[in-house]
Amino acid sequence: MAEVMDRCPTGIVGFDKICGGGFVRNSDNFIVGGPGSGKSTFLLNFLWNGATQYGENGLYCSFEPDIVETLNDAMAYGWDFSKLSEEGKIKFMRFSPQTSIDELKGELMKMIAKNGIKRICFDPISVLALNLSDQGKIRQTIFELSALMKRMKVTTVFSDESLEGDMGTSANGEWTKTDILRFLSDSVTIFYESGVAGVGDRAIRIAKMRRTAHERRAVGMNISNKGIEIVETPSVVTE
Ligand SMILES: Nc1ncnc2c1ncn2[C@@H]1O[C@H](COP(=O)(O)OP(=O)(O)O)[C@@H](O)[C@H]1O
Ligand SMILES: [Mg+2]
Repeated sequence: MAEVMDRCPTGIVGFDKICGGGFVRNSDNFIVGGPGSGKSTFLLNFLWNGATQYGENGLYCSFEPDIVETLNDAMAYGWDFSKLSEEGKIKFMRFSPQTSIDELKGELMKMIAKNGIKRICFDPISVLALNLSDQGKIRQTIFELSALMKRMKVTTVFSDESLEGDMGTSANGEWTKTDILRFLSDSVTIFYESGVAGVGDRAIRIAKMRRTAHERRAVGMNISNKGIEIVETPSVVTE
């Protein structure tokens, strides 16, 4: 049971099963995938379950131009965030890619303290990176963000866009702008927009998760009108 206490369950049953009960509490995590691979859906599902099943308040930080669209998408899964938002359980903030790190940190600190935020998502962090001049700046910015979240005892999930759909260098052998960050984070999960696991319309693979005996193979995933579903197979690691 002690093991379970230091996890932050996503409430996505099949996902929690393959990684010892969920993300490590107060860790920073990356979910990586191409457009339409289900990253935003996963993040909203994680926050929705956090507030409705685990009594944990959440914050969704968007770098996309239109946050209303995101909320409409959520409605389609039956997640009416407007009530939770009014109750202070889930907050939404939109940042422009031009937001400075100090401004971002200031706003986040206020919001986390005021609302007792335990879960935070940045979607997609690659948009913030677009505006930063070099690898060093990107690395420093994300490192500062992660460190602040850890100090404030928040479990963080960053989404990151990737055309390749996997870790490593791009087709021309160059690192994409945010690849390096995945080495620094506590976990990396790759999202595939096709069913590479052989089951499900889609798939995910946990590439790494510190302090966790996780399933290493790709597992099937579906998106239905209830959100994310991980297809359970007998091969998954159980703790
Ligand atoms: N109600 C639904 N039922 C099934 N699939 C859906 C539903 N709504 C959206 N989708 C699928 O989910 C995808 C959206 O994924 P999204 O989380 O926005 O991806 P990403 O953030 O990685 O770009 C859509 O492209 C669509 O294929
Ligand atoms: Mg998205």
